[in-house]
Amino acid sequence: MKLIGEGGNALAIYPSIGCSKKTRINKYDYVTKLYKSTETAEEEYKIYSKLPEELNNKLYYKFCELCKIDSNIHSYVDKVVEDYDIKKINYNSLLNIKYIHGVTLYDYLNHYEIIPIKKFIHLLELMIIFHEDIIKMNQLHFYHKDIFSQNVMINFKVDKLFLIDFGRSKYSKKKENIDINNFNKMLEDVIDCGKKNNKINCYIRSVKKIYSKIDIHFLKILYNQIK
Ligand SMILES: Nc1ncnc2c1ncn2[C@@H]1O[C@H](COP(=O)(O)OP(=O)(O)OP(=O)(O)O)[C@@H](O)[C@H]1O
Ligand SMILES: [Mg+2]
Repeated sequence: MKLIGEGGNALAIYPSIGCSKKTRINKYDYVTKLYKSTETAEEEYKIYSKLPEELNNKLYYKFCELCKIDSNIHSYVDKVVEDYDIKKINYNSLLNIKYIHGVTLYDYLNHYEIIPIKKFIHLLELMIIFHEDIIKMNQLHFYHKDIFSQNVMINFKVDKLFLIDFGRSKYSKKKENIDINNFNKMLEDVIDCGKKNNKINCYIRSVKKIYSKIDIHFLKILYNQIK
């Protein structure tokens, strides 16, 4: 069992701790997020239940189970927390969510000293599909509100980008640009990663001459030139 993330409100561990005694140990299909506050866990759980079905398995995994940490789970959690030398905090609730077989976009970009051109082209392709799905999600009045490279994962199993961490998400009838603005910022990080590769940098510079802003149009032009 491994600690895979530590945020302001939660600890993420993999494989998951099941909610019931039967499913308690080593569930390799799920991740457990341990929450200090029950309210925060409940809020995130509510959001998962509201996520549009249309994008389930495409942009996120809607599956989520919530349970309060009873004394039974507590002793198990304490053991895990001790094993990983994390200061003891009282965790009240947990969420189990589907495990995304992959790494965050942040880790992926930092993995390469110089990204190979083929990998870069493929990443651009995944970013285009990801953008289309974000637009669809926003059209269904759902806004993630925290899209950045540490909350986006590359799922190697199904070869797609996935959203995680719905702690700040909102259902809103009012049209907002936040997710697309955040997407554009994230795209800049991807482009920066490509710049270290001379060949890719030449393509980037030539597209920049005709299109100064980095957004979906820039991405599509670059992709069509480079592929
Ligand atoms: N479904 C998942 N599958 C695989 N890894 C995950 C999954 N969810 C989270 N992780 C890993 O755990 C890390 C932390 O998770 P997440 O972003 O959901 O919470 P957080 O930012 O730590 O906490 P908070 O809820 O306080 O924002 C991620 O960056 C990722 O590495
Ligand atoms: Mg996060």
